Amino acid sequence: MDRIVIRGKSPLNGTIPISGAKNSALKLMAASLLTDGELLLENMPRLADARFMAHLLAHLGVEAEERAGNQLSLKAASLSGTTAPYDLVRKMRATFNVLGPLLAREGKAKVSLPGGCAIGARPVDLHLKAMEALGAEITLEEGYVLAQAPAGGLTGGHIVFPFVSVGATEHAMLAAVLARGTSRLENCAREPEIADLANCLNAMGAKVSGAGTGTITIEGVTSLNGTLWPVVADRIETGTYAMAAAAAGGDVTLTGVVPAHNQALWADLREAGVTVEEGETSVRIAREGPLKAVDMQTAPYPGFPTDLQAQFMALMCLAEGASVIRETIFENRFMHAPELTRLGARIDVRGNEAVVRGPAPLKGAPVMATDLRASVSLVIAGLAAAGETIVSRVYHLDRGFERLEEKLSACGADIRREKEQA
Ligand code: EPZ
Repeated sequence: MDRIVIRGKSPLNGTIPISGAKNSALKLMAASLLTDGELLLENMPRLADARFMAHLLAHLGVEAEERAGNQLSLKAASLSGTTAPYDLVRKMRATFNVLGPLLAREGKAKVSLPGGCAIGARPVDLHLKAMEALGAEITLEEGYVLAQAPAGGLTGGHIVFPFVSVGATEHAMLAAVLARGTSRLENCAREPEIADLANCLNAMGAKVSGAGTGTITIEGVTSLNGTLWPVVADRIETGTYAMAAAAAGGDVTLTGVVPAHNQALWADLREAGVTVEEGETSVRIAREGPLKAVDMQTAPYPGFPTDLQAQFMALMCLAEGASVIRETIFENRFMHAPELTRLGARIDVRGNEAVVRGPAPLKGAPVMATDLRASVSLVIAGLAAAGETIVSRVYHLDRGFERLEEKLSACGADIRREKEQA
């Protein structure tokens, strides 16, 4: 197993190219199940999660081929099965999103329940309600969801989500595009990844309107074609490097981004004393002076993303004053707090609220993390800490950050990957 070793206190200066969004790419990959044409994804992030999704798709009959220039070709002339087994679903929740496309194309699906994960219980009840609203019959058997479309296929339906869910909104779209008739989805998530998926589906011949707003309307079509689609920039990777630069100090330009997708973060960083200059497809982040504490609460888009909460907490450890951070999306997403404390941070967690008191003179230590965003928050803290920080369980990082140590060391960070000693 690998680990990341950081010697902190080097400012970051230079340019960091941002990759395509993991959380968009995974759902776009699932869309390949909807067509016998080739879906050619550009700007694909090379990540463990994408490879994992490709394994599942291959199991279902999709030919996946990585091509030069970060392209991924996906083609399923016909599907070889409609079962997504436990072993190929349990490690990553996004794999559950193959259920809708399988139902839409083949009329049935058997998909293992994804189970809970470190950041919370994460049920799939809204996903299943959406499939039922499209006419599917759902039964649960031995840890599997068995879904059966009515004779003649899925039918358009009216879905009012009781609360906002990114995955359920995407999943409903992935099924409704091939349903007979019109579907109306209300109280939808508005994340940029949802608009990215809808735009790709439309390029494949679907009729989706309203994605990116609370109400999405889908007129079902009988078939979809292949297309070429560039994955939208990763706003979470963008925000992560922005906070790395703010924590370490220096002057960094992030390229290949959509600055508008991080408005909530930019507002908080500016309030904290960080320079944020938005270009058309780039953002410049610079910090020289001290950081000021800012309160923050996570919320569905366009609010502050839960996927940047851990990184923001790491940054606030360095800021003058007390910052109150409230997590409203997942019930157990403060696991980075005790690890940050090992580096010298002062954090009190009570329920879904953390109070961070700074500035803490962070000092390097061995740390480990239990999820992807938590581990990168430890890297950020390590960049600002005196001495050596060793982050174990790097497989979490590899799920969602492409060439992390390469991107950071190109800007002057002293960071390397090494094999964990037994
Ligand atoms: C997506 O997860 C992302 N994952 C998450 O990123 C992200 O944190 C989350 O959206 C919120 O932005 C992917 O896109 C692959 P939700 P998702 O459905 O779709 C509850 C990362 O680090 N809920 O919007 O699973 C749920 O438990 C990951 O990259 C139900 O109760 O999130 C949560 O409390 C982590 N029933 C809330 O809704 C359901 O059927 C929002 O979850 C579905 C969700």
